[in-house]
Amino acid sequence: MSTRILVVYYSATGNTAKLAAALAEGAGETGAEVRVRTVPETAPPDAVASNPRWQAWADAGPHHAFATLDDLEWADGLAVGGPTRFGGPAAQLKSYLDSTGGLWAQGKLADKVATSFTSASTAHGGLETTILATNNIFYHWGAIVLPLGYADPHLADSGNPYGGSFVSRKSAEPDELALGALRIQGTRLATISTYIATGLKPR
Ligand SMILES: Cc1cc2nc3c(=O)[nH]c(=O)nc-3n(C[C@H](O)[C@H](O)[C@H](O)COP(=O)(O)O)c2cc1C
Repeated sequence: MSTRILVVYYSATGNTAKLAAALAEGAGETGAEVRVRTVPETAPPDAVASNPRWQAWADAGPHHAFATLDDLEWADGLAVGGPTRFGGPAAQLKSYLDSTGGLWAQGKLADKVATSFTSASTAHGGLETTILATNNIFYHWGAIVLPLGYADPHLADSGNPYGGSFVSRKSAEPDELALGALRIQGTRLATISTYIATGLKPR
């Protein structure tokens, strides 16, 4: 049986969606079965309309099926990513994560491998705080939190050992440096998830 990887993202203007796609690509290269899912837009219409790029992205969506609790239960490993919002995770993504209490109470989230990623408009605008705050949830689940570290030479250049990230200053789109780091994160997630899943239970 293939290792099962879930990628859940929220994106308002498309940056984090591209990071999610790169991570999924890296995971898929290992032969893992990969599901990419998004979450519903919950911002008030006025907030969405205040940014033409946000409105255009929302109008064109949803870009993937919405993540369910079944997706989470299914996964051996998961990656969660969204844009940095005032130095922390986006509420849209947090809302999905906050719906996992039932699975948590049954111990069904323990021992999954979990990693996170983000996009922010400035280099010191909260990339790491967002990743670390997302990871806090994984600790409560009893998941195995997976950092990127500098496990590949590419990561010394892309520069975020906490998780894949991109600085979208002046509305730039994710570049090859960032996308390469996300592919590595996906491959690493699938590889480590295979070790954990096959070591823990017969498949
Ligand atoms: C309400 C709001 C809060 C934001 N907070 C931050 C922030 O704290 N730091 C930062 O660098 N960028 C911040 N941004 C910018 C986004 O994180 C950034 O544009 C990101 O690349 C968007 O990703 P997306 O295209 O996936 O939505 C904020 C944007 C909005 C709309």
